[in-house]
Amino acid sequence: MAYKVAVVGATGNVGREMLSILAERRFPASEVVALASRRSQGLDISFGDAIIKVKALENFDFTGTDICLMSAGSAVSKEWSPKIAAKGAIVIDNSSHWRMDREVPLVVPEVNAAVLEGQIKKGIIANPNCSTAQLVVALKPLHDVAKIKRVVVSTYQSVSGAGKEAMDELFRQTRAVFVADPIEKGKFTKQIAFNVIPHIDVFLDSGYTKEEWKMMVETQKILDPDIQVVATCVRVPVFVGHSESVTVEFETALSAERARTILREAPGVLVVDKREDEGYITPIEAAGEDATYVSRIRKDPTVEYGISMWVVSDNLRKGAALNAIQIAEELIARKLLKGAR
Ligand SMILES: NC(=O)c1ccc[n+]([C@@H]2O[C@H](COP(=O)([O-])OP(=O)(O)OC[C@H]3O[C@@H](n4cnc5c(N)ncnc54)[C@H](OP(=O)(O)O)[C@@H]3O)[C@@H](O)[C@H]2O)c1
Repeated sequence: MAYKVAVVGATGNVGREMLSILAERRFPASEVVALASRRSQGLDISFGDAIIKVKALENFDFTGTDICLMSAGSAVSKEWSPKIAAKGAIVIDNSSHWRMDREVPLVVPEVNAAVLEGQIKKGIIANPNCSTAQLVVALKPLHDVAKIKRVVVSTYQSVSGAGKEAMDELFRQTRAVFVADPIEKGKFTKQIAFNVIPHIDVFLDSGYTKEEWKMMVETQKILDPDIQVVATCVRVPVFVGHSESVTVEFETALSAERARTILREAPGVLVVDKREDEGYITPIEAAGEDATYVSRIRKDPTVEYGISMWVVSDNLRKGAALNAIQIAEELIARKLLKGAR
């Protein structure tokens, strides 16, 4: 069986990655359609060894489309996902718009694929925030063994998480520093080149940013509503790959050694944890890879049962495109694609 797949936002960071992962994993597609805004209509875009022409979303008829991988931001998803689902396609959306909707499953296949069974009421499935995806992949196998009470996480998020314009901004600012040109800001509120910015998405009344709030509530929706999460989200001048410092408190004993053993066997996780120079993963090594890497696993001596660890993943892959395609593969494996609603 082969499926007709539409990629909305195909010219963006996540959309391009989706096209390359669909080709890499030989996704059973009878046809792949690349869609973006009218600005990109007619552009050539790579899909494996082939080149396909970008079409405009607003002119496309979704009749006969089985899966729509959506990565064009919240406003586009809000308007288009219900219309596309009404045509019979299952929409797997990367924006934050549908994630906390009670009728929309929020899925990381290694963690909670079972929620897909009978719960795709709106024909829409949400992909979590990039920082949440890699966090829950690392937390789930530990939570299964020693219930997690509390998580303190600080992120070091790459600029690709803010889209292709943000990557260009880091590049231009870095160049401007070297040639003594004025620094121009666009996507970021402060200079990002040679700097770090503790501000991602808008500020909320609580004093947290929306990115931090998303990590807290999405982790609870995917993993367990009883887990307390506090997050600090920071943008760093890295092009691809998000890193996280994660401190976890458990209800029962779990040694660092046992956590390392559990994580070595966990789906989607690769442990690289030698207490020596280069014995850990940094974002440059995670970029282009599928795994969520866990390093620096050690006891937290400030609580009775706790560990700290370092979690790194490619935000465009596990944080977005790969996770979405894994959801599509899960729908096929569970025979949920046809007549899912
Ligand atoms: N980057 C990440 O790590 C990450 C992780 C998780 C989730 N996400 C989410 O994924 C989405 C896309 O992110 P991105 O990083 O790929 O952004 P991006 O690089 O800025 O790309 C945005 C894409 O959306 C398309 N688009 C914009 N307005 C459109 C419209 N009116 N109609 C049709 N297409 C339109 C753009 O097409 P044009 O080129 O024609 O403008 C482009 O293909 C966002 O919702 C983001 O929050 C991103």
